[in-house]
Amino acid sequence: MTTFGTPLTKNATKVMLLGSGELGKEVLIALQRLGVETVAVDRYDNAPGHQVAHHARTITMSDPAQLAALIEAEKPDMVVPEIEAIATPALQALEAAGTVRVVPTARATRLTMDREGIRRLAAETLGLPTSPYQFCDSLAELQAAIDGGIGYPCVVKPVMSSSGKGQSKIDGPADVEKAWNYAMEGGRVQGGRIIVEGFIDFDYEITLLTVRAKNAAGQIETHFCEPIGHVQVQGDYVESWQPARMAPAALTLSQDIARAITSDLGTGLNGEPAGLGLFGVELFVKGDQVWFSEVSPRPHDTGMVTMITQWQNEFELHARAILGLPVDTSLKTAGASAVIYGGVDAQGIVFDGVDAALQIPGTEVRLFGKPESFSRRRMGVALARAADTDAARDNAKKAAALVKPRVAE
Ligand SMILES: Nc1ncnc2c1ncn2[C@@H]1O[C@H](COP(=O)(O)OP(=O)(O)OP(=O)(O)O)[C@@H](O)[C@H]1O
Ligand SMILES: [Mg+2]
Repeated sequence: MTTFGTPLTKNATKVMLLGSGELGKEVLIALQRLGVETVAVDRYDNAPGHQVAHHARTITMSDPAQLAALIEAEKPDMVVPEIEAIATPALQALEAAGTVRVVPTARATRLTMDREGIRRLAAETLGLPTSPYQFCDSLAELQAAIDGGIGYPCVVKPVMSSSGKGQSKIDGPADVEKAWNYAMEGGRVQGGRIIVEGFIDFDYEITLLTVRAKNAAGQIETHFCEPIGHVQVQGDYVESWQPARMAPAALTLSQDIARAITSDLGTGLNGEPAGLGLFGVELFVKGDQVWFSEVSPRPHDTGMVTMITQWQNEFELHARAILGLPVDTSLKTAGASAVIYGGVDAQGIVFDGVDAALQIPGTEVRLFGKPESFSRRRMGVALARAADTDAARDNAKKAAALVKPRVAE
């Protein structure tokens, strides 16, 4: 039986979000609705999630001392990482000492923190199909990896990066040095390693939201949402839709891959099934062939579409699963999402045209409330539901284009 306390009293059920961007904000809202006391943590003040939590904290989450001190001071029942750039060894130590529960597990946050841990687990330990790859620490190693079998075209990514930062495609020998330098500039740590991957000429790519939640008997079961299709530009998601049409064989294979990777990431310290929550499993599909790309042990940006398509969106599913509650992953309607970019570099921008966007039937707009805009920063998202995903994609894109961010006068 799960018992909930009252927020702001000593019996509160207290959850700390590490990372309070647009995804964390929605998880916090879902937790608030269940009467959970929330602590939103981010690296800057007034982050989206700070604005909807009981407590807002600003620290450097990649600093193990700051992170451990905050967890020890706040004493949450659970810590929920929303970003990758966290001092995960500190989380592992706190989990091992029994100080706090980490969602889904500290090991999962450690393995998915960079591309190396998760790729080696998927390809080398679990034998899942992935692109051919190699890790390199220098331009010479990169060239040797390409010449030694990866070939052209290929993709270079810093091991520590997300949202396509530092990532580029190499079409021939002339691009190699440029790709190396770009990765060195875009990585999260200076002078870091890169992964070079053979380019997969996929027909389409999907995110398979996969939830590990307890059933009535208290055992952990795996649930799948309908597949989400998406388009990425420069490694960053610009639109997504659900359900993505897939050949039945490709869907079965995708679910098998997602079950394998999430079951492993959900394994506890003593080999027992322990980790609860939602995962975003990214897959490439060509005909009936499926490749594992990567996985987030948390809600996924392309999954924002579920705010309009599912009875329980990905944030509610995550909140319910981690609290030991049952989940329902069923679809309500076909729908789509389209990203609203900042377009300008400025603090405290304003948005025109939200009214015009919402004139389109079946649409919704979310503005994240980020204090500072950059040209390519995601500042909001337009959502649309329609009879089919093609109509929904059209409407979501139209609505997103009608919202016009600008510098305040
Ligand atoms: N080996 C590959 N072959 C073909 N396309 C690729 C390959 N690797 C990446 N891509 C394309 O680039 C996109 C981003 O890659 P990836 O997911 O690895 O980067 P990311 O920085 O983690 O992105 P995000 O944080 O947005 O998920 C993929 O969704 C896919 O469209
Ligand atoms: Mg990705």
